[in-house]
Amino acid sequence: MEIKVGDQFTGEIIDFTHEGNGILKVNNLTIFVNGGLIGDKVVVKIDEIKRNFAIGSVVDILEPSIDRVKLDFEVREARGGIPLIEYKYSKQLEWKKEKVKKDLFKIAGLTDVVVKDTIGMENPFRYRNHVQIPVGERNGKTLIGFYELNTNDIVDMDSSILQPEIGDKIIKIIRTWMDKYKIKAYDRKIKKGIIRHIGIRINRDNEAMVILVTGNDKLPRVNELIEELTKEKVISIYQNINIANFSATYGKVYKKLYGEDKLLDYIGDYKFYLSPKSFFQVNRIQTEVLYNKAMEYLDLKKDDIVYDLYCGIGTISLYMAPYVKKVYGVEIIEEAVEDAKYNAVVNDIHNADFIVGKSEVVLPKLVKEGIESNKVVLDPPRKGCERAVLETLAKMLPERIVYVSCNPSTMARDVKYLVENGYKVVKVQPVDMFPHSAHVECVVEIQKV
Ligand SMILES: C[S@@+](CC[C@H](N)C(=O)[O-])C[C@H]1O[C@@H](n2cnc3c(N)ncnc32)[C@H](O)[C@@H]1O
Repeated sequence: MEIKVGDQFTGEIIDFTHEGNGILKVNNLTIFVNGGLIGDKVVVKIDEIKRNFAIGSVVDILEPSIDRVKLDFEVREARGGIPLIEYKYSKQLEWKKEKVKKDLFKIAGLTDVVVKDTIGMENPFRYRNHVQIPVGERNGKTLIGFYELNTNDIVDMDSSILQPEIGDKIIKIIRTWMDKYKIKAYDRKIKKGIIRHIGIRINRDNEAMVILVTGNDKLPRVNELIEELTKEKVISIYQNINIANFSATYGKVYKKLYGEDKLLDYIGDYKFYLSPKSFFQVNRIQTEVLYNKAMEYLDLKKDDIVYDLYCGIGTISLYMAPYVKKVYGVEIIEEAVEDAKYNAVVNDIHNADFIVGKSEVVLPKLVKEGIESNKVVLDPPRKGCERAVLETLAKMLPERIVYVSCNPSTMARDVKYLVENGYKVVKVQPVDMFPHSAHVECVVEIQKV
């Protein structure tokens, strides 16, 4: 079928992509649709044509899905991060469970795995403790807000349901300051202007660290901004200089402008001091749920020796350490390992060692050196584990492996290998870390057969 940009089609949304686009099939054409929810009967306009699919947007909803909800508040931000916001929350959780089941069946060929109901949030709003908000300009007006799904278009916002309320106040102060002193958004194309992004980290006690990302080292009138920001509970302000032409938010150089070096946050009773560049799970409440499940599935004992591969700043390692003999955390980013070591001291934990390096290199080395481990945590990035990690596990045969995953497809691929090499999947627990997005996190209990 010959299609062109601007063509319109009618049909029913049958599924979501992992970015949260609705999926519509018309004859043999798959269309990813921004704004369509499962069950909606829609008219869709084609915006872009790719090799195997097209991208479209909803022109009209002919018949809304029975799972569409009427919100009792106005969404004042781009829906790129919350594409499912109008899909009933209980249905979001069901969809996430089904997605995990489907991937385990399609990719790993596993039909009989127990996948539990997704653990959702009691209050699934304002859950993000770190946001990175793009700043731009249109027709001379400053835009501060997230990108719309499938685009680089900033939707200006004065309030976000993703971040705690102090975040809204910070945006307002920065916007007023930019308008008053004519501070321009940075334009990457012409390399002019000042502000590229605003990073905001907010801790359990609603204190904030603000990171002003600039396109060069200039930051005029910053004292006036600091004066206003510190009227709120902003306890640390940094400038980050990002001269790169690509889209990564933060550059390499950080300059402290005000206050504390690090922001203190908690997961459960554990303290974590976060520098502006530390990786930290963005949903504090659900992270605790996730880690408790990981601990339960590992069935920790006092003489266990645990490898925590892909350990980030050592959060899971420190969480487990009091219950076991020894933990070894492995992480590729040197600064994260420095944070992990620092956080071990702060939490008075002395049985956790952290090693900088790639898991696929460090794990075989540890095994070769005879450092035994009977339990292993895997928490890789979206692309999953390197084959060398799985091959080493299949040789060392620890009694239990817990796989924490943010991508069910790569998780299913890796689990398949383990199942073919001496393991069985006991159960899978999806946890909703990102309500209103289509992202699914899960914890998998894997035992030696
Ligand atoms: C999903 S995060 C998990 C972090 C941590 N477990 C937590 O819960 O916060 C994945 C981590 O793996 C690290 N990483 C990526 N590739 C790696 C590799 N080949 N070897 C070791 N760590 C890696 C990333 O830097 C990141 O910190």
